[in-house]
Amino acid sequence: MSKYIVEDTRKVTTHRLVEMKRKGEKIAMLTAYDYTMATLVDGAGIDIILVGDSASNVMAGNVTTLPITLDQMIYHAKSVVRGVKRALVVTDMPFGTYQVNADEAVKNAIRIMKETHADALKLEGGEEILPSVRKILDAGIPIMAHLGLTPQSINKFGTYGVRAKDEAEAEKLCRDAKLLQDAGCFALVLEKIPAALGTKVASELEIPVIGIGAGGGVDGQVLVCTDMLGMTADFTPRFLRRYADLHTVINEAVGNYISDVKACDFPNEKEQY
Ligand code: KIV
Repeated sequence: MSKYIVEDTRKVTTHRLVEMKRKGEKIAMLTAYDYTMATLVDGAGIDIILVGDSASNVMAGNVTTLPITLDQMIYHAKSVVRGVKRALVVTDMPFGTYQVNADEAVKNAIRIMKETHADALKLEGGEEILPSVRKILDAGIPIMAHLGLTPQSINKFGTYGVRAKDEAEAEKLCRDAKLLQDAGCFALVLEKIPAALGTKVASELEIPVIGIGAGGGVDGQVLVCTDMLGMTADFTPRFLRRYADLHTVINEAVGNYISDVKACDFPNEKEQY
């Protein structure tokens, strides 16, 4: 049984998240990519569901997030939105849909919002994507920003290691965070950066900062649902805490089913018409 009791059952809004930061209430965010997981995660009381482009890795088996398409993200987001009553649903804009120019970015952003009914979008990057960020915000679409390790740039970084360890990169990150806040983004994800830098950015911004591998001094945490549920047994970064071992649970359940079918033990008399 979950030890968390949802006190406020109203739909989570971007305003409520800023209010949570002001009051010092931590924000809990998880990814989901399909209807069934979305109903489970939302029903447990999560504040934000991210339809992450990590779907490219954990749903489609790609090595990076780059191959997932706009159509595929729209499919995942529509499935999630159908299962959600309370959480704010944020959808990732996939690689290539907002980097070309601001006009193309806003066209793609509007398409996601119209077809999925998600509440907001997430874009990776700082100053270099500001024209797209501004144009999308001008269209009335809320944006969650994403700095630090930005997996859509993995081919530029060459590694999934911790970002912003040196002064120059840390300074750029702080500058970008402020620019994105000033442009009107409602929240910021910081991925895989030193904890002290996460704490500094969160204390300097008024908008909530949600961390993944950014330490405990930020305003909330996000994890990939399949990782925290222990479905992905071979992914073991330091920042990941596993809250279940579904890999073992599923392996045992499927093994038992196979044994029962082979032994003519399933279905029994009560399980047939
Ligand atoms: O796509 C994703 O799952 C993400 C989170 C890791 C923040 O962007």
